[in-house]
Amino acid sequence: MSDKISVCIVGSGNWGSAIAKIVGVNCATLPQFEKCVTMYVYEEMIDGKKLTEIINTTHENVKYLPGHKLPENVVAVPDLIDACKNADILIFVVPHQFIPNFCKTLLGKIKPNAVAISLIKGFDKAEGGGIDLISHIITRHLKIPCSVLMGANLANEVAQGNFCETTIGCQDIKYAKTLRDLFQSQNFRVVVVDDSDAVEVCGALKNIVATGAGFVDGLGLGDNTKAAVIRLGLMEMVRFVDVFYPGSKLSTFFESCGVADLITTCYGGRNRRVAEAFVKTGKTIAELETEMLNGQKLQGPPTAEEVNYMLKNKGLEDKFPLFTAIHKICTNQLKVQDLIDCIRNHPEHMDEPIIVQPKL
Ligand SMILES: NC(=O)c1ccc[n+]([C@@H]2O[C@H](COP(=O)([O-])OP(=O)(O)OC[C@H]3O[C@@H](n4cnc5c(N)ncnc54)[C@H](O)[C@@H]3O)[C@@H](O)[C@H]2O)c1
Repeated sequence: MSDKISVCIVGSGNWGSAIAKIVGVNCATLPQFEKCVTMYVYEEMIDGKKLTEIINTTHENVKYLPGHKLPENVVAVPDLIDACKNADILIFVVPHQFIPNFCKTLLGKIKPNAVAISLIKGFDKAEGGGIDLISHIITRHLKIPCSVLMGANLANEVAQGNFCETTIGCQDIKYAKTLRDLFQSQNFRVVVVDDSDAVEVCGALKNIVATGAGFVDGLGLGDNTKAAVIRLGLMEMVRFVDVFYPGSKLSTFFESCGVADLITTCYGGRNRRVAEAFVKTGKTIAELETEMLNGQKLQGPPTAEEVNYMLKNKGLEDKFPLFTAIHKICTNQLKVQDLIDCIRNHPEHMDEPIIVQPKL
């Protein structure tokens, strides 16, 4: 029996494949890790061939990360349980919609002392009118600790090896070094913080704001308006964490998972792009997702819906007018032209002005 740490990547989309490049190299070179990394791949036929076979022979995920070679020690496995059963570290990186089913399948089939880390941006609806964090769902169902990794990390740029930063929100500081070693590279710099919930919430909420930024681009309103939407979005993110995850730290918003990821997503990224096309073409979000994303999934509109489900239940929609308007536009309850009217009287503008007295 090897005492090396075995790693499985659960997911093989755009981000899963990009992170496999870094994790694969680290596992091949760092002595504490088992060289072979399994990667669960949702099986699809591409030009008559199985995607797993293509990945294992050409070492390229031709559908989700074309043009990039994956390290040869990353092995594609089409069966979820086979991929995960021997892993000490499970890296979850699938669109958040699939997580509840994945957990049901894996229950009792993984090592009891395994640990998880989620790279997934999004929430799930909780019974009773709230939302669940994906890391909490993983911990509750699989009974293992789950940290998170979020940051200004557009997958294609990470795959190209361009310099960037990321944030790990660690559940237990005893895993901090191992997790940092697993992900850090010369051009992918990791900061570990102990504020895991706030890191994860930032990663999910920024996709809602990016959808709003895309609407602004589609309306042709320009950079000042987009900056206002980004800033009001940030303030709603801060308020959301303050209300629902009290005890979180404001400093977390200054890590890569906070303002940096928000800006990246509002300028690059698929949520912004599809939202712009939504305004310009008049097509539905679902039609554009199919047409523009080649099997990739949008996170902004479903996250806006999940957040609205909770805000509505708690009577808090008017405290989060930007999040609320974006959800209503995505679901055709509101015209996109009404976006600015919804945020003109934002609580940020209406609260009592604070006059700062100069200190003597
Ligand atoms: N792409 C990025 O730049 C990026 C960066 C950071 C975080 N993320 C987050 O990472 C997560 C994964 O995103 P991604 O970009 O790797 O995925 P993706 O949207 O590129 O790909 C979709 C994935 O879902 C799989 N899939 C499709 N139907 C399925 C089914 N019925 N059951 C199971 N799997 C199915 C596909 O095989 C594919 O691997 C998301 O939460 C996303 O927000 C993405």
